[in-house]
Formats: sequence, C-alpha cells, structure tokens
Amino acid sequence: MSIRYIEETKHLILETKNSGYHMKIDHLGYLQHMYYGPKPGQDNLSYAFRYYDRGFSGNPYDMRYDRTYSLDSMPQEYTSFGVGDFRVNSIAASCSDGSRCAEFKYVSHEIVNGKYSIPGLPSVYDDEGKAQTLIVTLIDNAANMGIKLYYGVFEDLDIITRSAEIINAGSEMVWLRKASSMCLDLPYGNWDLIHFHGRHCMERQVERINMFHGVHTFISGRGMSSHQQNPFIIICDHDATEDSGICYGMMLMYSGNHKTEVERDQFESVRVVMGLNDDRFRWELEPGTSLHTPEVILTCADGLTELSHNYHRCIRNNVVKGKYKLSHRPVLVNNWEATYFDFTEEKLLEICGIAKDLGIEMFVLDDGWFRNRKDDNGGLGDWVVDTDKLPEGLGGLISKVKGMGLKFGLWIEPEMISEDSDLYKAHPEWALTAPGRAPMMARNQLVLDLSNDEVHEYLYDTISGLLRDYDIDYIKWDFNRPISDVYSHSTPSARQGEVPHRYYLSLYKLYDRLTTEFPDVLFEGCAGGGGRFDAGMLQYSPQVWCSDNTDPVARLAIQYGTSFGYPSSSMGAHVSASPNHQTGRKTPLSTRGISAMAGTFGYELDLTKLTVEECGEIRNQIKRYKDIEPVVHGGRLYRLSDPAANSRYYCWEHVSQDRSRCILSVVVTDPQANYTLVHVKLKGLDPDAMYSVGGEFECRGRTLMQNGYTFPQLTGDYPAQQLDIIRI
Ligand code: DGJ
Repeated sequence: MSIRYIEETKHLILETKNSGYHMKIDHLGYLQHMYYGPKPGQDNLSYAFRYYDRGFSGNPYDMRYDRTYSLDSMPQEYTSFGVGDFRVNSIAASCSDGSRCAEFKYVSHEIVNGKYSIPGLPSVYDDEGKAQTLIVTLIDNAANMGIKLYYGVFEDLDIITRSAEIINAGSEMVWLRKASSMCLDLPYGNWDLIHFHGRHCMERQVERINMFHGVHTFISGRGMSSHQQNPFIIICDHDATEDSGICYGMMLMYSGNHKTEVERDQFESVRVVMGLNDDRFRWELEPGTSLHTPEVILTCADGLTELSHNYHRCIRNNVVKGKYKLSHRPVLVNNWEATYFDFTEEKLLEICGIAKDLGIEMFVLDDGWFRNRKDDNGGLGDWVVDTDKLPEGLGGLISKVKGMGLKFGLWIEPEMISEDSDLYKAHPEWALTAPGRAPMMARNQLVLDLSNDEVHEYLYDTISGLLRDYDIDYIKWDFNRPISDVYSHSTPSARQGEVPHRYYLSLYKLYDRLTTEFPDVLFEGCAGGGGRFDAGMLQYSPQVWCSDNTDPVARLAIQYGTSFGYPSSSMGAHVSASPNHQTGRKTPLSTRGISAMAGTFGYELDLTKLTVEECGEIRNQIKRYKDIEPVVHGGRLYRLSDPAANSRYYCWEHVSQDRSRCILSVVVTDPQANYTLVHVKLKGLDPDAMYSVGGEFECRGRTLMQNGYTFPQLTGDYPAQQLDIIRI
C-alpha cells in the first residue's frame, strides 16, 4: 500500500519506492505537512517540528494562551487565507459578505485504488492499476468553503501528483481570486532553486540560484505556458549534482497562465505555491459548484539525473497518450525553412521525390497552404486551400505525396484569426478584443475566444473536417502569439476573470475530442517553436516542436534545459540548412544530424539544393536514427556536460533500459589548437559487463564509468562525434 493512515497519531503517509511524504491532522484539525524527502524509515516524524514562541507571530483563537502555535510558521498542506499565515498563500477569495478569510480544517479523508482524474484537465494517468489516490477534505464553516486535496501516488515511478478542488459549500456566491494546485513547505535545508527561463528561439535556459529571503516568483501571463518561463522548477540541496543530493521537481501540467512562488521566510523555511496565475484571475464560484486546479507532478530524487529520469519515465508512460506514445515517430521533412510561404505544388513534389529517395517517411506541409497567406500578415481563420499554389487542392497534393510512398502531415494554427478573413467579417466578436480599444497585434493576428462554445464547435468542425476529408497522418498545431486584450464577448462582465482558464478548458476538450476521434493522427504541438512545451500539451501531442531556433549548437542549449523535465521522445528536432537561418552559423551536416538525433528527428531544409555527397550523408543519418531511436526515446538520458561549468562542448549519452547499448554524443563548440581533449566519465552502464567502445577497443562498464573515455581530437567548425558502446 503506498498510502497509509495511522489512526493513533492521525498521520497520513504516502510512499513511493524511494520517497516518503508525511502529513498529520493536528489537534486543532489543521492538516500539517511534516515531511517530503527520501524514505525516512519510520512513521512518526512529529519530533521534527518544534513549537516555540516566535514573537510577533499570531496564534489561532483556540491557542491564544499558547504562543508557540502559529500558522505563520507551521508547515501546511494547503494554506488558509487572511487568518494569520503571512507567507504566500495557496488561495484567496472574497465571500458575499465581503470577508476575505477562511480557515480550512480537516473533515475526512479517503484512500482509493487507482489514480484520480481531473474533470476537464489533463492529468497523469494509471492504466496498470498501480497507483493510489488520497483525497483529504477540509472545510471552513464560516466561509462555507471546502477544499478537496487530491494526491496520486505512483510508487514505482517515484511520482506524487497533487491537485485541489475548491468548493462553494454555502448558499452565497464566492469570488475566487487565487486558486493554487499545491503548497509544499520545506521547513529545513539550504536550497538552490533551478528554473527554466528563456525567450523565442532560446527556450528553457537553466538558471540555478541560491535562494534569497523573500519571494521568488515565476510566472507566465501570456496566455500560454510560454517561451519565457516554463511551468517547472527544481529545488535541490545547495551542493546537489547530477549524481547526488536531494532534488525536488515540481511541474505544473498546464499550458496557460501559471504562477510559482517560492518563499524563503524569516525562519529559513521554504514554501512553494504553484498553480494558476492569479493576476486578473477572478472565478465566480456559485453555490454548490467547485473549481478543479491543474495537476502538479512532484518527484523527489537523489541527484538531478534521477529526477529527470523520473519525469521522463512518467511523461513517456503516464502522460503521453495514443498510439505514438512509445512507437516509432516517422522521420519527416517539413517545408518551412525550405520555402517559407513561397512554394508551388511542383516544388513541394520535387522535395518529396528526393525525400523518399533519402529514406524520409513523411512530408509536412507547413504554413502558407491556404488563401490569403502569401506572408504572415493574413489568411488565418478560413482554412480554404490556395489553389494558386496547389491547383489540385490539398487532395491533389496528398494523393501525389502518398503515391510516392510518403505519409502526409499538415500545419494549422486553429486558435488564431486574421482581420482579413471571412471568419472575422462574419464573427468579429469571436476574437479576444477589449471593447472600445484597438487590440495589440502580434504577427498581425488575433486570438479566437475559445472560451466561447460556438468558437469551440467551429474549430472542432474545421479540424475534424480536414481530418475526415483528407488522408492526413500528422498535424503540426501552431500558436504564434501571446494572448492579450483578454475579453470574451460571450462572457458576462463579472466573469471576464475566468476567460484565460476557460480558454484552456476548451482547448483541452478540443484536443481530447480530436485525438479520441482520430487516434491514428500524430499531433505535434508548437507555439512559435517551444512556447507551449509543457506536460499538459504532451498529454495530447506526443512531441512538441522544441524551438524555432534550428541552429544545432544553440539547439543543444535548448535541448539541455528541456531535458531536465521532458524526455527526448517529446522534443521535435530537425536538421536545417547551413548557414543557419536564425543565427547565420555554419556547421557541418554531421553536427546538425547528431544534434537533431537527440529528439524526434526530421529535416527542415531545401532537399533540392543538396549535393550528391550530402544526399549520401543524409541517407546514412536516417538509417542511423532509425537504428538508435529505441535507445534515444526509450532509454535513459545522461547529461555529461554542464554548460554553466564548461562552454567548450556538449556531451550526452542515451543508454538502453537493459544497459546493453549506449549512444555517446559530443559536439565541440569551441575547438582550440592543441587543446585538452574532451574526457567524460560514462554513466548508467552495467559495471561488470564488457563493452565494445565504438568498435575501437573493449572495456568494462565500471572502468568507463570510473576512468572515463577520451574523445579523439575533433577539429574544424563545431565538430561532433557519436559512437556506440555495446555490451559484448
Ligand atoms: C512558427 C513555427 O514554430 C514554425 O516552425 C513555422 O511553422 C511557423 N510558425 C509558420 O508560420
């Protein structure tokens, strides 16, 4: 049993293979947090928290003569608000009488087999009947508000999930102002904080800081999980490394506005509150209704590598759904960087002919295939094929592509609308625009109001129509601007604060309907590159385009940061032209291949311009990728270099689960004359087994891990090498 209740002490204990999570219902009915960390080896951890008079901290009314009991210092599972815990709160609301406080006390709990799901939201699932769920109900009788705290325990995965349901249990309206998914208090420790910030073309950059006193806030208010701040943080021992040290991961499974607050307080205790962004959030909670918050995926691991492995396993097996979750992803060629908007059917078919000859399996038609789309200033919303470019329509192109033996994929950006579209002329009120105000434009387009059911149905009809009418194997679902001017013309003014979250409830429902109805279609998420790279999207699209930056060296920094939370099988990665279109950097084809082979592999360049030698090299790359894909997608990733400590090279390893095969890759970013060779200690091998190292020599796993491997001297511009280390 991974969840236990100890009646005598009123302790609730969650256990995974390597971690323990302890709570206690105290004598006043507060749900105290006692511990989260490596399995402690005993049930009663009450001793760890000492009560003492902390001066100037208030005390609940029942404890007014005992100044040692204060909500302001006590670790808790989900905070009350307005009643004396002055740290960051999990929740805020106004009641109909104008009061803005609530004190949540334990009412009951329930332990059930299986994993809870969250109405309308993606969540980690259990299809093997191994998980357990704990539901703790708390209530405040004055405010008539209830909270159900959901905990999902995946013992084998070392994963605990959390979500909250906030309930209006009274007969008057409650206005929610903040609704977090979880609060996690870490009362002791010297912690570092790792977060993943970035920008368009440079997503998920790793920043590690020692926590200062006060509140660190990580948000997106852009209507998307964002390029700027991924909804994922790590808190780790100050001296934690890839290999050791307590590391906690907290990942919000959500694609919209999010907020994570990490407070180091007056007593060195750390509190993390994670969930929906409360900026301009206001939810009318009618009597008898509730709001479910998005899920947080938690793990506690020894070292950053183990933490990443826990997430990779969980996302691969228990987040991603559908037939492509663990199977081969077609090697594709996408025409975006080959042609941009300037293509003809003839040109596309020329690309396809070469693609087929090289061993590519799918052709993806990117942006520009529909009317009024000569550039990125218009055309979004109608989704009617441009017969100037494709005289025989999409159907004509598709049958020719299929006739060549390729699969066919199509780009769409369904959530957007251009002012010059028929759709906008018919339904200007379907765009998110504030009354009396010219909206912010980005890429000269507006965002459709998905919180409006009519828009939802229109999008469902349009996309399902495309998928019914045409033989489409893959959809690249793009989203190319942040959401501003958030005002829904179909929503009463008092409920405008609900629109950003309702938008995502509708988007998830749309994805759910489409993926259920078209189970054979592979969806790839995209948002101007990796602006919506999150576990929410990964539930429906097994892969997400990692970045619009296809420079293989810059891409390594992006893939490196992404890899802390997300598996290689989720990262769309393509070989593009040299010089690179975003950075102008020139790199060898081999380096571009090795960099892209760390994700879901494809090409994004004009194949008609390749030389005979390049064609030969690409043929080999594709064979190679297909050969190593099971190890890259299904194995364990080890980061062997840390760009913060060394900027000379990136080195990484994928090792099959049974440790029989290791793919070792390096890209040298600063090759110097007469330099110190790249030397790395391998990881994850079978210590006692003998391995053949790149066919060059044989060596025991233990030796390669202790003594390491030295690459030969690699010279030239951004040289790379990849070798097989195979158990004999
Ligand atoms: C942004 C995407 O990330 C690109 O790959 C491409 O599809 C363009 N949009 C098309 O407009």
